[in-house]
Amino acid sequence: MSNLHFQEAGQGTPLILLHAFPLSSELWRPQFETLSNDFRVIAPDLPGFGNSPDFVEDASVDHMANSVMALLQQLHIEEPIILGGLSMGGYTALAFARLFPESLRALILCDTRAEADTEEGKAGRDKMIALAQSQGATPIVEQMLPKLLGETSQKERVNVMESVRTLALQQTPTGIVNALRALRDRPDSLDLLPQINVPVLVVVGEEDTITPVSMSQTLVDEIPNARLEIIPKAGHLSNIEQPEVFNRIVCDFCRSL
Ligand code: MLT
Repeated sequence: MSNLHFQEAGQGTPLILLHAFPLSSELWRPQFETLSNDFRVIAPDLPGFGNSPDFVEDASVDHMANSVMALLQQLHIEEPIILGGLSMGGYTALAFARLFPESLRALILCDTRAEADTEEGKAGRDKMIALAQSQGATPIVEQMLPKLLGETSQKERVNVMESVRTLALQQTPTGIVNALRALRDRPDSLDLLPQINVPVLVVVGEEDTITPVSMSQTLVDEIPNARLEIIPKAGHLSNIEQPEVFNRIVCDFCRSL
């Protein structure tokens, strides 16, 4: 039995959407209305975020992937799913692809990467963990916000910035700390990429500085059946910075399967 909270809309092929750090299933709000016209859209809150309980064991992306599988079992979803993930959601989608390849119909990897953290990246996570433990979620959110959105959104879409801030500030320090551990310790997935045998859509905002276009290019170069879509005037949270373009790209891909 999964203990993940989730949002669901629509009918048809299951399209599971996994959110970024430090957010929740609410990240997918602009996708629900459009994509649920054609698909059964299910967006869980990953462990420790939104309304889902904290990790029950050591935090890891494998544990996140296992909890997504438990949710599918709870919902009696036996057919292969389309699994989409943005950034941390993408790391989790890759972990799911390694653990449960036979459960996949297709993958959508948004603003994410296969590479593990560098030593410098891991040290940065440790500093953020210490900061969240001593001062709570607010400094983490304020530190991340300018990186989450592209420069166009920062100048022109103040309301998007504010809604991301509000959503991030709803997350708990414990959830943030556990997820930072999972992000820090996630394995490198480069070796997995050539083994992925389902169609893959890779989406990235052209202004993404956390997982830049070059990292998406690596995904497309290494996965046998993958195609890349670069979204102009969007940063790391491309699905909420350019929702119409994002929805069209994802819809076209899913309909083509
Ligand atoms: C995310 O958007 O999920 C995070 O920025 C991912 C990361 O920090 O590696």
